Amino acid sequence: SSASDQEKLRPPPPHVLIFPMPVQGHLNPMLKLAHLLCLAEFHVTFIISDFNQHRLLQHTAASAAFSRCPGFQFRTFPDGLPDDHPRSGHRAMEFVSSVANVTVPLFKKMMIKENFLASAARRPVTCFVADGLLSFAPEFCEENGIPFIFFGTATTSYLWAIFRFPQLLEAQEIPLGGKSMDELIESMPGMEGIIRRRDLPGFVERAQAVVFNTCEDLEGQIVAEIHKHVPRVFSIGPIHHQVKHRLAEKKAESSIITASLWAEDRSCMDWLDAQPPRSVIYVSFGSLALVTREQVLEFLHGLLDSSQRFLWVVRPDSVTGSDGNDPVLTELMERIKGKGLLVEWAPQDKVLNHPAVGGFLTHSGWNSTLESIAAGVPMVCWPYFADQTTNSRFVSEVWKVGLDIKDTCDRKIIEEAIRDLMDVRKDEFMERAENLAKVVKRTVSKGGSSYNNLDGLIQYIKSLVV
Ligand code: UDX
Repeated sequence: SSASDQEKLRPPPPHVLIFPMPVQGHLNPMLKLAHLLCLAEFHVTFIISDFNQHRLLQHTAASAAFSRCPGFQFRTFPDGLPDDHPRSGHRAMEFVSSVANVTVPLFKKMMIKENFLASAARRPVTCFVADGLLSFAPEFCEENGIPFIFFGTATTSYLWAIFRFPQLLEAQEIPLGGKSMDELIESMPGMEGIIRRRDLPGFVERAQAVVFNTCEDLEGQIVAEIHKHVPRVFSIGPIHHQVKHRLAEKKAESSIITASLWAEDRSCMDWLDAQPPRSVIYVSFGSLALVTREQVLEFLHGLLDSSQRFLWVVRPDSVTGSDGNDPVLTELMERIKGKGLLVEWAPQDKVLNHPAVGGFLTHSGWNSTLESIAAGVPMVCWPYFADQTTNSRFVSEVWKVGLDIKDTCDRKIIEEAIRDLMDVRKDEFMERAENLAKVVKRTVSKGGSSYNNLDGLIQYIKSLVV
């Protein structure tokens, strides 16, 4: 028929290759970017570890959702770690080297062997959207003539701080300790005698484009600074909200793809239904943080002493120094009954958007922060590592939608911060959080900057098709 003839004549769409680090906080925004590009009818190949793909398909309806995105495909690789590796806490960084040593060589070999993933139905990859942590990407792209798009999963301000590290040293904002910029760095294991102070990171400048999961309303000034160094900057966040908006706009049947690596305990939604509006503080430290038994005790006492209701996510194996039969912990857990609920993993975005939730005690992971901001929920920030220490500062000092209790873990401080947020200064925090949520939602709606930037990114990728 003429319709199918036309179909045959139409050139295949752009084919985008997306490669995140195999951890929850990177998988989430990059899968959502994949979803957005599929809604634009692009082909997408998404690199994932065998280990995570198995968990994803076991715990979520991701496969069903992607079956409604015909342009989407996974390619799996080993992450190089044994199945019983914790992949969290201080050992999370072992990912970075394992991915570099095991996954990346296999990936490169596959790319060359399979002619950059060309097939009868697909063109070879049009561009490579690589997680900002994959430092092999710029060189690989340059060698093979593939446009390289840098994807930042963290706050733009944090990335900017990293990229400016050599300049911060040069300006002596960070002491050089009497050394010159050209002296070799000797205290970086594995890189002794190679890296000079002036060689510290800056590889974003080698990208043809960068994509940030942020928006101009939150980090406009910093995005503008980065723009001076890279030709194209697309801040398209909060991505999770952009997906919701685009799906609603298309009246698409496909629901938003959640990509949980743990089984979501839905029973907490029924429990929330039974609580008064804005009365519950949700507690979660993301997918990587580990807490010690002592820290758990401080949080438990702080929460109980604050007299607020709480829903607390305690991931399996996330408490160190306790064997699960700890009498003190067991007794405290008994005491929380009625006031609080513990779950191993929650449908977090749904929880944050539940009317009973009035606050979030968070480790300030960037996804959690954006989800909380878009849901209009103020935060108590207890950053754990990486960009979280910067994120929490922005939450308390720039956007003023929360309190930062970093570098402490004391029941009294926790109790007071929770009381301030949920009771004493509740109206003030609620008002600011609700206003910020409105601003951030507007940015992903038609005519908003993140909405326009996503269209810009789609147009840019289309322009790369030769
Ligand atoms: C990491 C870093 O810590 C973060 O700062 C960085 O910017 C991205 O990668 P993580 O520590 O896991 O991620 O925190 P976060 O960025 O908040 O991501 C956690 C994700 O898991 C969120 O999207 C959150 O909604 C989800 N989650 C968490 C659940 O779905 N259920 C839970 O019970 C807990």
